[in-house]
Amino acid sequence: MAARAAALRAEGRQVFDFSAGEPDFRPPTAVREAVASLVRERAIGYTPVAGMLALREAVAEHLSHYHGTPISPARVLVSNGAKHSIANLLQAMIDPGDEVVIPTPAWVSYPDMVRLADGVPVVVPTSPEHGWRLQPDDLARVVGPRTRLLVLNSPSNPTGGGYRAEDIAEIGAVLARHAPQTCVMADDIYRRLTYAPFTHASIVRVLGDVLENLALVDGVSKTYAMTGFRIGFLVAAENVITAATRVQGQTTSGAATPSQHGALAALRDPSVDAEVAAMHLAFTRRRATMLAALGAIDGLRVVPPDGAFYAWVDASAYLGATGLADDNALAQWLLDRHGVASVPGSAFGGPGHIRLSYATDDDSVVQGCARLAEAMSELAARGAG
Ligand SMILES: Cc1ncc(COP(=O)(O)O)c(C=O)c1O
Repeated sequence: MAARAAALRAEGRQVFDFSAGEPDFRPPTAVREAVASLVRERAIGYTPVAGMLALREAVAEHLSHYHGTPISPARVLVSNGAKHSIANLLQAMIDPGDEVVIPTPAWVSYPDMVRLADGVPVVVPTSPEHGWRLQPDDLARVVGPRTRLLVLNSPSNPTGGGYRAEDIAEIGAVLARHAPQTCVMADDIYRRLTYAPFTHASIVRVLGDVLENLALVDGVSKTYAMTGFRIGFLVAAENVITAATRVQGQTTSGAATPSQHGALAALRDPSVDAEVAAMHLAFTRRRATMLAALGAIDGLRVVPPDGAFYAWVDASAYLGATGLADDNALAQWLLDRHGVASVPGSAFGGPGHIRLSYATDDDSVVQGCARLAEAMSELAARGAG
């Protein structure tokens, strides 16, 4: 969709791009300055495979504080983006045939990354009635002796659904009963992008005493608008980090040195928080604008997202009778005919839906949603909505 949107733009068409999975802001000033001065003034060599010690210490300190428990730098692996952190964890942990439970709709990469590690993705559907959260009974039905890992992405891409402490506690109780060997991987990449009344719950605070095996995926991409830096963090037991570091050592080695310095500035420089807060405020405003606009379109259904920067829209009322067979056809039609770029929900295991990102400027949110409303009334006139 992004490629098609770019091609239409090149033809001179106006396109409202709601397909992006990344903030539209510049990284914080201190980050840009740290990288610029490094590149200007110093040799840029390799770092240790697991990352610069100063960065691992900063991550350890930052996450110890957030999760309320001491985390040593030896339990931190710095990788080329959170995606790489997840891939390393899976390669290190999954044996052939091991099962990985993935509540769905889910980020597109999880199932394929599991398959690449010779594991078996076990997809468990979630529903809007439960805020797109994995239900304990559904988990109990699928876990067993082969279950090695449960993926918990809160808040979620694409649904924006988030797990409260009590949800996590229930899930932990199921695992402790049925599959105590199972590790939980919390993909916390959107944890600081949440909207009141929801607040992110630390899995370590909730399950630290119940389950031994927890892995945390975190990073700078979304919170600090640093997607292109490609820096992610994995926190896990020391033996898991040792194995994951070996995998990284024979595949990519340490992450790019300037990027690690940028990430260090993001975590350490006191001026960064104010800029992150300003981005958060912008996302909060755009979310409200988009939800109000979507709420005014008959037949579209959205559970207000707890976090991230996506609206997960049930558009199934507009499929079928309109001549648009599925969400792929709808997304294609919205882009070609109305210049509105979205991502079809099937990609995330959510047919009948489209994902709209509000990580784009305020005017585009307003105008793009107005376009969407026109598009939907055109479809309604064909007998849907
Ligand atoms: C749920 C989720 N996890 C992980 C990632 C990967 O983040 P990074 O860009 O740091 O690799 C993304 C990026 O879209 C994501 O949406």
